Amino acid sequence: MSKLALVTGAAHRLGKAFALTLARRGYDILLHYHHSQDAALQTKAEIESVSRRVILAQADLTDPAQIRSLLSTFQSLDVLVNSAAFMPGGKVDSLSLENWDASLDLNLRAPFLLSQECAKKMTAGGLIVNITDVGAQKAWSRYPSYTVSKAALESLTRILARALAPEIRVNAIAPGFVLQSGIVPAEEWERLVKRIPLKRPARTEEVTSALEFLLQNEYITGQTIVVDGGYSLV
Ligand SMILES: NC(=O)c1ccc[n+]([C@@H]2O[C@H](COP(=O)([O-])OP(=O)(O)OC[C@H]3O[C@@H](n4cnc5c(N)ncnc54)[C@H](OP(=O)(O)O)[C@@H]3O)[C@@H](O)[C@H]2O)c1
Repeated sequence: MSKLALVTGAAHRLGKAFALTLARRGYDILLHYHHSQDAALQTKAEIESVSRRVILAQADLTDPAQIRSLLSTFQSLDVLVNSAAFMPGGKVDSLSLENWDASLDLNLRAPFLLSQECAKKMTAGGLIVNITDVGAQKAWSRYPSYTVSKAALESLTRILARALAPEIRVNAIAPGFVLQSGIVPAEEWERLVKRIPLKRPARTEEVTSALEFLLQNEYITGQTIVVDGGYSLV
């Protein structure tokens, strides 16, 4: 029977790259998306072109009821990648309660709830990979709730790794700067990229190769692999 991987936020960008990586390694994909239905359908077609099965699952992961309903769509699972995230800007004096809650609910509570229940479905053992951020080690005052959520997700990674061993391994991948989005203004992105010791953003495949490594090496749990071109050093 083929193995199944659930990737959250997998319609586009890094989540899509994780889903395609797993598909190329022989996993069928439970492809979660929230609003990006067209992109999800496109990604589904790309995964099917490498001869893997794809099930699309739409859910707002800030809503525990929708997480429960997503979890009811499958019986067993081998890999969970928690990639969906929300990064609201807003300094300490202006970040709204709504954005604080939305980012903590999506970036931290959802990976916890998904891990809690997916672990019960990983009857043949499994791997959970939480996508964090080099910001987890920093004090990014323009993105307080995002930074806190990713730091806490790395802590949760260690707690889950201990609690779910030996059957299930739990690790994190912390990218630095990979794909620019509208969240970080272009000038700020350029300024930050210049500060990276390796002087460029990561290529997507330099991040997905960390996932491949975690799939291959079955003696690593509770760790965060930082893929940041040295940004954590500055
Ligand atoms: N991009 C980078 O350079 C970078 C750097 C460091 C860390 N990371 C981390 O890598 C991961 C992927 O980043 P990305 O930049 O590729 O993604 P992104 O563009 O920030 O996309 C966010 C994803 O989260 C999903 N999402 C948003 N709100 C949601 C909700 N309420 N419920 C469920 N899903 C929701 C979106 O789904 P829909 O589009 O379907 O609505 C989308 O797939 C994130 O964890 C991010 O923190 C990225």
